[in-house]
Amino acid sequence: MFIDPAVNMKPEPLRYSPFKALVVPRPIGWITTMSAAGDLNLAPFSFFNGVTDDPPCVMFCPNGTHPDGGPKDSLRNVQETGEFVFNLSNWSLREEMNKTAEHMPRSVDEMAAAGLEAAPSKLVAPPRVAAAPAAFECKLFKVIDLPASKSGRPSHVVIGEVIGIHIDDSVIVDGIVDISLLQPIARLGYMDYAVVNEGFTMMRPD
Ligand SMILES: Cc1cc2nc3c(=O)[nH]c(=O)nc-3n(C[C@H](O)[C@H](O)[C@H](O)COP(=O)(O)O)c2cc1C
Repeated sequence: MFIDPAVNMKPEPLRYSPFKALVVPRPIGWITTMSAAGDLNLAPFSFFNGVTDDPPCVMFCPNGTHPDGGPKDSLRNVQETGEFVFNLSNWSLREEMNKTAEHMPRSVDEMAAAGLEAAPSKLVAPPRVAAAPAAFECKLFKVIDLPASKSGRPSHVVIGEVIGIHIDDSVIVDGIVDISLLQPIARLGYMDYAVVNEGFTMMRPD
C-alpha cells in the first residue's frame, strides 16, 4: 500500500497511523529540565536521538502542548534556562519512566512523584536520575520549529551539545559498555516497547 500523509494516515485496513510503528526502535530521551524559578521536570521523549558525536549532540522533540496551554514544560524550561539532562531509561526503570509521562502541573516534580532519587549534575542545574545507568549533561544549541499540523499542533526539535557524560561503572566490562548490563528500553509503535539485552557484531567492509 501507499500512504499520502497529507490525505489520510490510516487508510483501510490500518486501525492507527503506522508512522511510529515504522520508525523503530526509538531510544527514549528521559529528559530532566529546570525552570528559571527552580521547578524540576522529568519526562520521556521517544523522538530522541544522538545526532553527531564530535562534539556530541543529542536532540529531542517536545510536540503538542501542555494541557494547561502553551508549550510542554520540558520545552518551556529549556528555553528559559538553556540546559537539560538526558537520562538513559532501562528495563529496571521502565515503570518509573512511564509514570513521568503523566501530564502534571508545572510545579510538580515528576522525579519525586515517580519515587526517583535525584543526583546532582556537575555542569548544569537540572539533576540526573540517580538510578539511570548513564546521563548526559547538555547545553541548548538550538530549538527548531517544525511545520505545525493541519489542526495547528506545534512540533519542535531541541538540539543540545553534550558537555558531560556520566556512566555507572558497573555497566563497563573490558573497556566497553556492556549492552546486556545496560538493558536500554526503546519505543516501538502503538503501546509497545523493546528491551535490548543482546546485540551482534559486524565489521565494516573498509
Ligand atoms: C515512552 C514515551 C515517549 C514519549 N515521547 C514523546 C515525544 O517524543 N514527544 C512528545 O512531545 N511527547 C512524548 N511523550 C509524552 C510526554 O512524555 C508527555 O507529554 C509529558 O507529560 C511531557 O511532559 P512535560 O510537559 O513535563 O514536558 C512520550 C511519552 C512516553 C511514555
